[in-house]
Amino acid sequence: MTDEHESGGDPAEPAPAERSSIRIEHPEPGLAVLVLDPPHRPSLAVLDLVLMRDLEAALEEVATDGQLKGLVITGRAPLSFAGGADVEAIGSITEPERARELVRMGQAIFSRLEGLAKGQGGPLRTVAAVGGPVPGGAFELALACETIVVADSDKTRIGLPEVKLGILPGWGGTHRLPRRIGVPAATSAILTGRLFRARAAKKLGMVDRLTQPEYLLRVASDLALGREKPRRKERGWRALVVDKNPLVAAVVESSARKKVLKETGGHYPAPLKALELVVRAPRVPLREGFEKEAQAIGELATGEVCKSLVGLFQLSEQAKKLGKLPDGSDAPRIGRAAVIGGGVMGAGIASVMAEKGLQTRLRDLDPAALDNALRAHYSGIEKKRKRRRLAPHLADAAIDRLEFTTEPVGFGRCEIVVEAVAETLPVKRAVFGELAGLMPEDAILATNTSSLSVTEIAEGLPRPERVVGMHFFNPVPKMPLVEVVRGAATSDEVVARTAALALRLGKTPVVVKDVAGFLVNRVLGPYLDEALRMLEEGADPAHVDRLLVGFGMPMGPFELLDEVGLDIAAHAADSLEAAYGERMKKSDALAPLLEAGMLGKKTERGIYTWEAGKRGRLERGELNPLVARPNASTSLSDAEVVDRAVLAMVNEGARCLEEGVVRSAGEADLATVFGTGFAPFRGGLIRYADTRGLEDVARRLQYFASSAPIAGRPGGTAKFTPAPLLARLAEEKGRFHES
Ligand code: NAI
Repeated sequence: MTDEHESGGDPAEPAPAERSSIRIEHPEPGLAVLVLDPPHRPSLAVLDLVLMRDLEAALEEVATDGQLKGLVITGRAPLSFAGGADVEAIGSITEPERARELVRMGQAIFSRLEGLAKGQGGPLRTVAAVGGPVPGGAFELALACETIVVADSDKTRIGLPEVKLGILPGWGGTHRLPRRIGVPAATSAILTGRLFRARAAKKLGMVDRLTQPEYLLRVASDLALGREKPRRKERGWRALVVDKNPLVAAVVESSARKKVLKETGGHYPAPLKALELVVRAPRVPLREGFEKEAQAIGELATGEVCKSLVGLFQLSEQAKKLGKLPDGSDAPRIGRAAVIGGGVMGAGIASVMAEKGLQTRLRDLDPAALDNALRAHYSGIEKKRKRRRLAPHLADAAIDRLEFTTEPVGFGRCEIVVEAVAETLPVKRAVFGELAGLMPEDAILATNTSSLSVTEIAEGLPRPERVVGMHFFNPVPKMPLVEVVRGAATSDEVVARTAALALRLGKTPVVVKDVAGFLVNRVLGPYLDEALRMLEEGADPAHVDRLLVGFGMPMGPFELLDEVGLDIAAHAADSLEAAYGERMKKSDALAPLLEAGMLGKKTERGIYTWEAGKRGRLERGELNPLVARPNASTSLSDAEVVDRAVLAMVNEGARCLEEGVVRSAGEADLATVFGTGFAPFRGGLIRYADTRGLEDVARRLQYFASSAPIAGRPGGTAKFTPAPLLARLAEEKGRFHES
C-alpha cells in the first residue's frame, strides 16, 4: 500500500489529486473496507468516470497488500450505496465506439474485483455490503463480489433496470445474474427492469444475506474475515439441467420474446437484445459474453430510443426540484389534508394521500359516495397487502388515516384541501368560501378542476394567492402526472408546496399556466376530435385505434374516449371550443351516443360495446351501430390517419410552448408521456416533432390544412395551419428543444 505522505514530496510530481471518491479503511487486521464516498456526489454516489478510475486504483492497492484476507465494498451509509452508472454520460454518448470503450472499462474493473477472490494476487474474500437504492451498475459491482449482504430496509431496492433507459446491463450483468440465479429468473428480472425489495431479492438468490442496516458492516466484515460462512444458494444441478440446456433456453427465449413484443409492439430494442444475451449466458465464456454486451451497448446507447428514455428520466429527476421553496429549502411536509367530494377523483386522491402518510379527511354531502370511497380505499390497500407491496402494519395505518364526514367539521388543522366536487364555478367557489373560514390562514386551497379557470375560482376569496390547481388524472392511483396550475394570484410558495405534495404522493408534477385544458387536455382535445372527424369521414374506429397503438399510444383514441366517458369528453371539448374558438370546433359524432345515454365503459355501451370478460374486466366488443357508417368509405391511407391525429396534437403543443403554458419543451414531453401515455420511446410529443423534423411536420400540416375534407369543414384549416412558432422554426430549420 502506498503511504499517502510519500507522494506529496517530489516537486516534479503533479499536485495531489482531489480527494479520491473511494476511501480505504482498515478497521481490523486483514480487512480492507472500500467506501464509495465521492465528494462531488453529496447525496448518492454514482459510478461515473471519476469514481470508476478511483475504484480501479483502490483495487490495485488492495491487490498488492499481502496482509489482507478480506475486502468489503460499501457505501458511505448502510442505505446509501450507489445510484448506478452515470445516466448523464449515457445520454450524451453519440459514438458507438466510445460507448463500447466505457463498457469495456467497467467490465475490466469489475473483472479485476472478481479476480481478487479467485486468487489473482489474492485470494481475498470479497463482500459487497449494500442497501438503499442499488440499481444497475451498482448491483453489477456487487455481482462481481463473492458474497452480497443487503440491508433489510423498506428503502432497499436492488436490480438491473437498464432496459428502462433503452440499454442493457453491460458491466457483466447479463452474464453474472443468470449464473447466480438461473436463466428463467434472470430473464424476467432483466427484461422487466424491476427493482426488488431486500427480501424478494434474497428469495430469488440475487443476494446472499440480509441484515439490519446497523449490522451491515459488521456482518460483511465477519464474512470477509471468514468468521461467518457464506450461505450462498448455489444453482447446483439446476445449472446443468436448466441454465446450460439449450432446449430450456429456447423455450424461455421464445415465450419471453412473445411477451416483450406484445407489451412493446417491437418499439424497444433493448429487452430483445438483452434476452438474446441472457438466455445464452451460462453457455458462453464470460469474456466472450462481455464483448457481446459491449457491442450491444454501442448500438443501443447511441440509438434514438435510448436518448428518448434517458431524456424522460432526466426530466422526471428535474421535476423533483419543483418541491423546493423559492429560497431553495425543501417545502415543509404536510401532515394533514382534506379532500372535498368523494366521487371518482376525490376518493382516489384521498386514498393515495392516506396511503402515503397524510392524515386525510374526506367530505362528501352524499353518504353513499363516502361508503363507496371507503370500500375502494380498503380494497386498494388490501390488494397491496396481499401482494406484499405494503407491510401489514403500514396497511392498517393507511386504512386508519382516512376519515370520512358529511359535515363541515374537523378541518381546523388541515394544511391543504383538494376539492373534487361537481365541475361548476359557483359550487367550487362556495366550497372554497366555506373552507377559507374553517382552515388555517395559510392552508392551500387546491382545485382538481379540469376545465374551469383557477384564477376565476380564486376571485373574491380572501388570500387568493393560496388557491392553486392540482389536476390529477383518472385513475388517480395509477396515473403518474399532476398538473400544478398557477392561477394569476397563486404565490410561488404555494406552487412549490403543492408540487412537493404531488411528489410525496409518488406523482410527477409539471407546473402549467391557467389556460383552458391546461396542457394535457388541451393537446389531447384536437387529437380525439380528429379521430372523430375521421370516423365521420368513414374510417373504421377499430382500425384507427390499431394504427395509433402501432404508433405507440397505450390505447387508441376511440377506446380512450370510452374509457374517459363520452359525457366527460364532450364537456371538455365544449370548454376547449369556448376558449379557443374555431380551431377547436368540435365534431358532432358523439351526439347520438350521448342522447342514448351510452357514455362508454361505465355504461357498457359507447363507441364500442363493452362486455365482462376474464376476471370480470370489461373487454372491447363490437362497434356500436349508432356510430357505424356502413355507407361511408374513406380513402385515407394509414399514414394519413396517424398523422392527422398526432400532428393535430403537435400543432396545439406548439401553441402551448409559444404561450409559455409550460416553461420548456422538455416539460411538455414529460407531461404528454405521463399524462396521455404518448409513446415513451419517442420521448414525448415535442421531441417526436423535433426528431421527425419540423420542416416535414409543417409541410404535412399545410397539406392537411388545404386538403378536402378538412378545408371544407368549419375550423379545419385553422386547426391544421402550422402554429406560428412551428412555422418559424421549420423555416429556420430549428427545433423546439433548442429554441
Ligand atoms: P363525481 O361526480 O364522481 O364526484 C363528485 C362528488 O362530489 C360527488 O360524490 C358529489 O356528491 C360530491 N359533491 C358535490 N358537491 C359537493 C359539495 N358541495 N360538498 C361536498 N361534496 C360535494 O366527479 P369526478 O369525476 O370525481 O370529478 C370531480 C372533479 O374532478 C371535477 O372538477 C372534475 O372536472 C375533475 N376531474 C375529473 C376527472 C375525471 O376523469 N373524472 C379527471 C380530472 C379532473
